[in-house]
Amino acid sequence: MRGEPRLTGGRRRRNSLGAAPALLLSTLLAAVCMLLLGSTALAGPGSSSRLCGACHGPLRSQWAGSAHATSWTNPVFQAFLADAREKLGSEIQANCLPCHAPLAHVSGDRQVFDPVAQEGVGCNFCHNVSAVDPSTKPGSYTYDPSNPNLMRGPYRDADPMGAHEAIYSEIHTQSEFCASCHSASHPRSGLLIEGTYLSWKRWSGAEYDMTCQECHMPPAPGKAATVAKKTRPAVNAHSFVGPRSTPAWLSDAATLKGSVSAGRLRLEVENAKAGHALPGGGNSMRTITLDVVFSNAAGAEVQRLQAERFGTEFADADGMFPVPKWIGHSVARATEIGPDSSRVVLCDVPPGASRAEAVLTYHAIHPAYRAMLVKRGVDLSGRAPIVLARTTVVLP
Ligand code: HEC
Ligand code: HEC
Ligand code: HEC
Ligand code: HEC
Ligand code: HEC
Repeated sequence: MRGEPRLTGGRRRRNSLGAAPALLLSTLLAAVCMLLLGSTALAGPGSSSRLCGACHGPLRSQWAGSAHATSWTNPVFQAFLADAREKLGSEIQANCLPCHAPLAHVSGDRQVFDPVAQEGVGCNFCHNVSAVDPSTKPGSYTYDPSNPNLMRGPYRDADPMGAHEAIYSEIHTQSEFCASCHSASHPRSGLLIEGTYLSWKRWSGAEYDMTCQECHMPPAPGKAATVAKKTRPAVNAHSFVGPRSTPAWLSDAATLKGSVSAGRLRLEVENAKAGHALPGGGNSMRTITLDVVFSNAAGAEVQRLQAERFGTEFADADGMFPVPKWIGHSVARATEIGPDSSRVVLCDVPPGASRAEAVLTYHAIHPAYRAMLVKRGVDLSGRAPIVLARTTVVLP
């Protein structure tokens, strides 16, 4: 299925490598890496990101801190996968591979033995994708196995100095590239399990083509490879910044305003920053809660309630919700805050209350699943609930 990996790229420019020591060093490094690229490509459909890191060090360390690098090893994913296998049989795993271990999917490595496939959504996978059908088919990318050393990327004039081949790929600069995994319906139930791309399409910024990449891979001037000769106006960070890798990024994602309207507490939550719904993905996995505590003039608590929960939640065949995306039969709630939108929540004021304190909290793990994960000893570090906003309202 795989073509012969090639050691040299078609664009090597020997004459441009001068005798300066720095260049000599980079030539040596490039030569070693060329050999390595060739040999590891023989062992699997792609090379380890470690190899790419020899010349793309900063990009590699950014990627290593992202959710893409742990899309297979992530303990929360593994716990839910174990659960899915137990409930639905071990074959269910094959349904997860297109997005969580794409190299294993394309090479038919169903048990994910290949250590490079265990690197999740990695360098050599994304840069060997040659086309994408932005439908809701899970994993709707075309992976080209014919030459793992041919990197597709955003530059028309890349000069990889013989380390690998390179070719311009427009799809890599478009949101549709991300849609291959971030836009998907469940093959059996038809439920929209990943809706981020479709909600991005409804966002005002999509009209003037503000892509996923611009927010999640913010571009800055610099070198695309440490050994590269050119300084480029735009090198995209590979941090895939998001709520789990960078909780602080959520600090201004939403605003919360409180007031009194016709004797009721009026809370308005605005999606302030996301180019899609809030929460933005992971249907039935994440939620944002709006909790209110009413207190009296003496400061004692009068009532505590969950005023609203934002996000899509699926119900199973018995109507129980929330349940994870692969066992959902119907949509129980669809209450995310759309792009460019805000939501108003009204609460009755209990007798004796003179103050209301409202807190908006993002939960990377829906609280309904947390107890089960804790009981099983799953490592939940970095997944504490995050307060997005709070407000206090003095009641008449
Ligand atoms: C989720 C897919 C994905 C993964 C994983 C990924 N890349 Fe990229 N990469 C992209 C996209 C998309 C672009 C182009 C962004 C644009 O132009 O809008 C890009 C651009 C690049 C570029 C051009 C310079 C730049 O940053 O814009 C290099 C070099 C590169 N990637 C190397 C790597 C390396 C090395 C790794 C692994 C450490 C890696 N990529 C992992 C999707 C990915
Ligand atoms: C169409 C691609 C796709 C398929 C197929 C898929 N997932 Fe996911 N999954 C994603 C994306 C994208 C996210 C992250 C969404 C976000 O961050 O909001 C995710 C997130 C998750 C999470 C949350 C992880 C965390 O740390 O919070 C779990 C658990 C999960 N998936 C389990 C599974 C299981 C089990 C299967 C197979 C039965 C599966 N997924 C199939 C794309 C997919
Ligand atoms: C020996 C050094 C070296 C190694 C190893 C290396 N690259 Fe590169 N790569 C470069 C250089 C140099 C460039 C050109 C940068 C430029 O022109 O600005 C480049 C460019 C790229 C581009 C941009 C292509 C385009 O047309 O836009 C991508 C994508 C890329 N590399 C991915 C990878 C991946 C993935 C790996 C690991 C499998 C890897 N590289 C390993 C040196 C290397
Ligand atoms: C091959 C499938 C695939 C592709 C292509 C892909 N992703 Fe992902 N992405 C995932 C999976 C799977 C997860 C969830 C991993 C997990 O939770 O363990 C994820 C998670 C994320 C997250 C959540 C990070 C966090 O910290 O919460 C962001 C943001 C993201 N992806 C952005 C992008 C962008 C932008 C692109 C396009 C440049 C893209 N993804 C392309 C599969 C993919
Ligand atoms: C204008 C900037 C912007 C654009 C454009 C954008 N995002 Fe986001 N994204 C955000 C912000 C802010 C968050 C954090 C709030 C949230 O979770 O929705 C986020 C969160 C996410 C998450 C994690 C969701 C969660 O709740 O844990 C994923 C996955 C994601 N984005 C993928 C994408 C994809 C795929 C695209 C393109 C189709 C895209 N984003 C376009 C700003 C953006």
